[in-house]
Amino acid sequence: MVSRVIPVEPFDLVVFGGTGDLARRKILPGLYLRYLAGQMPPDARVIGAARGDLTDDEFRKTVAEAIEEFVPAARRDAAAIAGFLGRLAYVAIDAKGETGWARLKELIRDDVVQAFYFSVAPALFGDLAERLRLHGIAGPQARIVVEKPFGRDLASARALNATLAQHFTESQIYRIDHYLGKETVQNLMAVRFANILFEPLWKSEYIDHVQITVAETVSVNGRGAYYDKSGAMRDMVQNHMMQLLCLIAMEPPYHFDPDAVRDEKLKVIRALDPVRPEDIVRGQYRAGGDEGSYVEHSENPDSRTESYIALKLNISNWRWKGTPFYLRTGKRLRARESEIAITFKEPPHSIFDDDRGWRENVLVIRLQPDEGMNLKVMIKEPGPGGMRLVQVPLDMSFADALGDAAQDVPDAYERLIMDVIRGNQTLFMRGDEVEAAWAWTDPIIEGWEARGHRPQGYDPGTSGPEDALMLMHRDGRRWREIKA
Ligand code: BG6
Repeated sequence: MVSRVIPVEPFDLVVFGGTGDLARRKILPGLYLRYLAGQMPPDARVIGAARGDLTDDEFRKTVAEAIEEFVPAARRDAAAIAGFLGRLAYVAIDAKGETGWARLKELIRDDVVQAFYFSVAPALFGDLAERLRLHGIAGPQARIVVEKPFGRDLASARALNATLAQHFTESQIYRIDHYLGKETVQNLMAVRFANILFEPLWKSEYIDHVQITVAETVSVNGRGAYYDKSGAMRDMVQNHMMQLLCLIAMEPPYHFDPDAVRDEKLKVIRALDPVRPEDIVRGQYRAGGDEGSYVEHSENPDSRTESYIALKLNISNWRWKGTPFYLRTGKRLRARESEIAITFKEPPHSIFDDDRGWRENVLVIRLQPDEGMNLKVMIKEPGPGGMRLVQVPLDMSFADALGDAAQDVPDAYERLIMDVIRGNQTLFMRGDEVEAAWAWTDPIIEGWEARGHRPQGYDPGTSGPEDALMLMHRDGRRWREIKA
């Protein structure tokens, strides 16, 4: 199976923060890979814009280095790299002053798709949006792309939305949550809404509970200053995990259409109950191996920021009342592993004498690594000796099932940037969605700030703090193992 590449329309894409970390690691290598795949039309151009005083050639050199560092050797093709670099230009620009804007205006064409990627601190979003308009650079169809964090609470998110709305309409604003660009995350929708098999059972009547795990092995070393103001709740739960939860819990949209999908996700967020303090466990990693502790990485000796969080959520609607969702995410854990596990209830009555108590079916959707699906079903244990039951996996790795096409999937950023050019907002967050997520998050964070709550320490290489186990044990359930 070979993946199909449909070229997009001609475009001018300006990357503000074009020499910054995200641009180097993800945006520019991602654009090169789309070029390599043949998706970029001959007259598409990418313009880096940042404060530094670089020539076009100096910028090209930084991009060549980024490709060298962040694109796997097998996909580095000298001719393609040269061709891609030929599409690049650079403008030294001052977001808060007048430098560079006239040159940018000269460069931008108004008969192609115009996209402006704000890969800069959110404090500059307003300045950039205003200058793009004031200088007559962004036409009526222009798109702007903004990165997370989109605010740090409801008030700041509202203020950001209001600022952007002065210059751009909602249909021009693309708020990135890169989890939505991951192939397997999109697969959640395919699995749910392209199969009849699961949907009739997809409700509290049949589902005992849902576990969502995003475990990471990395520390926050090198980005402690950002992370210490954020913590796992703002960095991962309010956005990435909330999106996963929405895709699992939402009602079927009437069509795979941006607003239809986002309307349904919004309803889920609005139906979330406030979380009780006893349903939250916060953790902070200790020193271990050859790495320092969280506190050392954050450079704040008294930091109470969490690098791990586990919480139990309830969704108050007809479908989910009575089915808890358990979420956990953390840094420096035993393995990098993201998955969603849906545990079904046991059959109402057993006709077998075998009474070993593991009759529930579990559907596991593995997001990363080794993307795939696994459905645990009961069968008869082979051999004589009566009807003894055993649980076995129906295991499908997407790589095995799809061959090369599964190896070739674009990275989340590649996919999302091409969606911006196509004008498809389905995988981007709408302003009201982000605000609703903050409205749910704020009281949780305010609660522990008011109490001066201290996270519990945990050792690196484990599955997190002890109390997280209790969160499930007390409900007679347990977390799935994070496997090294
Ligand atoms: C980012 C967070 O948004 O997502 C990081 O800021 C986190 O803290 C990262 O490590 C995880 O993304 P991925 O794609 O590696 O799962």
